[in-house]
Amino acid sequence: MDKRFENKVAIVTGGASGIGYAIVESLLEAGAKVVIADLNEQTMQEIEATHPGNVIAVKTNVTLEQDIEQLVNKTIEAFGQLDFAFNVAGASKAAVITDLTESDWDFTVDLCLKGVFLCVKHQARYMKDHGGGAIVNVSSLNAQVPMYAGTAYASAKAGVEMLTKNAALELARHNIRVNAILPGLVLTPLTSQLTNVEVIHEAYMERIPMKRAADPKEMAGPALFLVSDDASYVNGASLIVDGAWQTTGYPDLSKFF
Ligand SMILES: NC(=O)c1ccc[n+]([C@@H]2O[C@H](COP(=O)([O-])OP(=O)(O)OC[C@H]3O[C@@H](n4cnc5c(N)ncnc54)[C@H](O)[C@@H]3O)[C@@H](O)[C@H]2O)c1
Repeated sequence: MDKRFENKVAIVTGGASGIGYAIVESLLEAGAKVVIADLNEQTMQEIEATHPGNVIAVKTNVTLEQDIEQLVNKTIEAFGQLDFAFNVAGASKAAVITDLTESDWDFTVDLCLKGVFLCVKHQARYMKDHGGGAIVNVSSLNAQVPMYAGTAYASAKAGVEMLTKNAALELARHNIRVNAILPGLVLTPLTSQLTNVEVIHEAYMERIPMKRAADPKEMAGPALFLVSDDASYVNGASLIVDGAWQTTGYPDLSKFF
């Protein structure tokens, strides 16, 4: 058994589903204690009950600063330390730019970008006074490749990529590494509404050289690598995990709108 994270404590936002949940599972397999920060109380409590003593669930809205402060405080109360953080929570409201409402822009940018800012701010505040740590922010291939009707989402994810670099610049002196993962297409509840539509699925597969979407576990491996000692000199990096999709560009989704 790989127990490389025994005696380590990690926060995972968005840990009740998809990529976040895959990271939670991999951390537990590696011996870490995990704090799940999500809106989905019921699922978090089920995970907590399955791993007594190793998981706590903290209901968190990542767009609210007081929730993030409480999340870090509860992590320290429960486990006494914070070594790693995975800022995964995200979702979007899609529309072409001429129809994109201010409230849909705010929803997407607050969740995907402001949420990551607030998390890194408070996670790093604790880490810098306690010897350091490592943080992974989940951005998207859409940080670098635009998507039809994705103005708010792609802009927010590009912001996460730069926020990650800026945080790495400022926090390296405190022994904190900050890196980003840019996933391509991953099979999760977030993407199933698109990938379940045959023609959209085919449009994606035409562009993805590996001809398949990723399993969420295929994001967890690279994410855990980035916080591990194997990545001790990786800092401020954007790790694209997309089956070579960035080499071909996004499909033209305009015909589906
Ligand atoms: N699935 C993909 O193909 C893909 C590709 C690129 C990037 N991403 C990014 O990966 C991350 C995870 O996506 P996923 O596909 O696993 O989605 P998912 O819908 O399966 O999981 C997202 C989780 O975030 C939680 N969440 C939503 N709003 C929240 C809030 N305000 N506060 C706290 N938690 C909140 C949800 O309850 C859910 O548990 C997102 O940031 C997404 O943009 C996903």
